[in-house]
Amino acid sequence: MQTLLRSLAASAGLWLAAASVPASLPAQQAKSAAPAKLRDPDVPYVPTTPEAVEAMLKLADIKKTDVLYDLGCGDGRIVVTAAKLHGVRGVGIDIDPQRIGEANENAKRSGVDHLVTFKLGDLFEADFREASVVTLFLLPRINIKLKPRLLEQLKPGTRIVSNTFDMGEWKAQKESTVDSEDFDTGLSRKFLLWTIPASKQAP
Ligand SMILES: C[S@@+](CC[C@H](N)C(=O)[O-])C[C@H]1O[C@@H](n2cnc3c(N)ncnc32)[C@H](O)[C@@H]1O
Repeated sequence: MQTLLRSLAASAGLWLAAASVPASLPAQQAKSAAPAKLRDPDVPYVPTTPEAVEAMLKLADIKKTDVLYDLGCGDGRIVVTAAKLHGVRGVGIDIDPQRIGEANENAKRSGVDHLVTFKLGDLFEADFREASVVTLFLLPRINIKLKPRLLEQLKPGTRIVSNTFDMGEWKAQKESTVDSEDFDTGLSRKFLLWTIPASKQAP
């Protein structure tokens, strides 16, 4: 598990370093009408196992009246499962256009495309204020970097559930585990829950 975590963290670190290099496009290219290419992901794609998706929704105590956002949604499985099993409206955001394509297909195949929306975008620039539940499967330092935006945007009482990774000094209020299929990696076995406090402040 340590090896995998190190490699996940290392890849994300390399991507971040690459992303921080300023673009030096020739002026003519910069003026092009082509849509700006999104930067590389901060975290590689590793899907949450199906058992883990259900465990995360259970830990969030998801209800039909919730609005679920998965930040870095991959193929949309968390949002689609919540819509299918609980009738929940959801939004998934991912920086990788391939994942957004897969998520839209997944929603259509599962007959929940009227309940869910998938958006191509950077989670660090996204507006997720309407969420009452947010799910994350990122990395510890990405969670920590995201924490101020979570506290700024989310209403008190909003639940945040993370697959595997913590949020540094902001200790989870509850945890759960499953015996996942993903025994080799150790991922998708532990889940952590936080609730946005009334003061909107956290360590
Ligand atoms: C570990 S996968 C989790 C996928 C999905 N949430 C799940 O649990 O199955 C992380 C996802 O985050 C996306 N991602 C990474 N950095 C991102 C960013 N800055 N903005 C939006 N999505 C990002 C990746 O493309 C990838 O699909």
